[in-house]
Amino acid sequence: MCGIVGIIGTRSVAPLLVDALKRLEYRGYDSAGVATLEDGHLDRRRAEGKLSNLEAKLSDSPLGGHIGIGHTRWATHGVPNETNAHPHFSTPVAIVHNGIIENFAELRQELKANGYEFATQTDTEVVAHLVSSLTKAGREPVAAAQEAISRLRGAFAIAMLFEGEDDLIIGARNGPPLAIGHGEDEMYLGSDAIALSPFTDSITYLEDGDFAVIRSGGVDIFDAQGQKVARQAQKSSTGAIVVDRGNYRHFMQKEILEQPEVVSHTLAYYLDLANGAPRQIDSSIDFASIKRLSISACGTAYYAGLIGKYWLERFARLPVDIDIASEFRYREMPLDAGDAALFISQSGETADTLASLRYCKGEGLKIGAVVNVRESTIAREADTIFPTLAGPEIGVASTKAFTCQLASLASLTIHAAKARGTLDEETIAEMVHGLMELPRLMTKTLKVEQDIVGLSRELAHATDVLYLGRDTAFPLAMEGALKLKEISYIHAEGYAAGELKHGPIALIDEDLPVIVIAPYDAVFEKTVSNMQEVAARGGKIILITDAKGAAASSVDTLKTIVMPDVPAFVAPIVYALPIQLLAYHTAVFMGTDVDQPRNLAKSVTVE
Ligand code: AGP
Repeated sequence: MCGIVGIIGTRSVAPLLVDALKRLEYRGYDSAGVATLEDGHLDRRRAEGKLSNLEAKLSDSPLGGHIGIGHTRWATHGVPNETNAHPHFSTPVAIVHNGIIENFAELRQELKANGYEFATQTDTEVVAHLVSSLTKAGREPVAAAQEAISRLRGAFAIAMLFEGEDDLIIGARNGPPLAIGHGEDEMYLGSDAIALSPFTDSITYLEDGDFAVIRSGGVDIFDAQGQKVARQAQKSSTGAIVVDRGNYRHFMQKEILEQPEVVSHTLAYYLDLANGAPRQIDSSIDFASIKRLSISACGTAYYAGLIGKYWLERFARLPVDIDIASEFRYREMPLDAGDAALFISQSGETADTLASLRYCKGEGLKIGAVVNVRESTIAREADTIFPTLAGPEIGVASTKAFTCQLASLASLTIHAAKARGTLDEETIAEMVHGLMELPRLMTKTLKVEQDIVGLSRELAHATDVLYLGRDTAFPLAMEGALKLKEISYIHAEGYAAGELKHGPIALIDEDLPVIVIAPYDAVFEKTVSNMQEVAARGGKIILITDAKGAAASSVDTLKTIVMPDVPAFVAPIVYALPIQLLAYHTAVFMGTDVDQPRNLAKSVTVE
């Protein structure tokens, strides 16, 4: 997933492009580059690695010009080096691209046959040469760009700059997001509103198939059929959000520690905190009448959905089918148009989740979206948004978005139970009270951090780690494993504790740390049996439980982390904190790039 930006300005554009790219680094950071037009002449600077390397190059060798495009890359085709870094040139055009051109091989063959030579392994270079060949065949820049775009298959967001055209940027969208910013005598193009927030809050979102001709005086937008369309500009709210690390060492640390605050913001949307009652939620999903809810998401958002399934089925008696979006979108499962589907996504741009949404929409289901970015594509295409109010999540490893997703799903569970008449008022009040306790319980829980720091040294030397949990702690075990592996690069697996004897127990030895997530609940005793099976084979157990659990467990552990007593309903939200802290401190100890781990990107806008 890459970030792209374009600016037609009235001032030196290279520093502005870099400022915008800094806000897009969460989309990928393998390499970066900018191209500008000065006196009609195209020039570029590119660098491998972080954006700071490009900044250094620009400082040594500045670029002039008031019009330019920029790119920060997450490699899909071709190794992440300077040669493969965007912008790609083929006289007279410079191109930056986010996405995957699926027919790039056949186009590459065709262009090679026409004498074009390729300097890179990227699919993007094919587009540059295709546009170039059309200009050489006599097309004007806009016509050449439009014809080239019409030959592409796949997912792309593209920006183009042409030699000699110092008041023209072309933008095209088919899949990954692309937004146009309206300034004072300046115009902007970017992957999202956050990138453009230093310049403007007046944003027009392009739709799939749109082709935009941007000049300093404004923009003309054409739809997939080539018809000129008016897309409404809207006021973006992202500009007001401060996106900085403050005094924290990493964004991830900041985002872990601000969870009590952002979870309370999210709960305030769903609950009347003053009266301890659920608010009336405007929803196009009639929870009283639907017979089944399909949930789909990816990664951490999927684990949140798994916990939501336990809640919705247990308390609202609502059957839930859930699957990871990359499987869901191709499963062709039977769906009833009278039912509903719920998509969970922090970014609201994940390609597989968006494709699954569109599949369900095509089947006539009502669509709900639990999203953190209200201006995202998934949010815009859903019938109802169930927002998480986590604020921008910059760390690639999702933390505060996860607990806010859980807070939203827990609130939705209460709403659905009320609608379906499956819980009495007293039980609902008790559950609402449990949610209202969350900020205090999470703040109290963060005090276990010192216990965690010591443990992280232990984990840092492991080559494999096993996480175990039952019931709503089972998805938490998988989330804990994902957190650890994506930022520390240590292999980890999350397993249902009850599955241990069906295979994973073969892994147990004195070198394998086993992290057991087990509040003292209805299945605690069952989990103790699993811990005994581990201990009997010399396994090193780290138990995360509460005081009752610590007292009841007869098993020797390497360490027991004692959590505050929390209502079983909200336990998954509170127990997310120690597993996040464990992954964070292990990664810090190992010196990996916590906020931007290798090979990852924050928003996976390609399948
Ligand atoms: C979570 O730590 C990962 N970075 C990743 O699994 C993420 O949750 C997944 O890509 C889904 O992203 P989304 O919530 O923006 O759709």
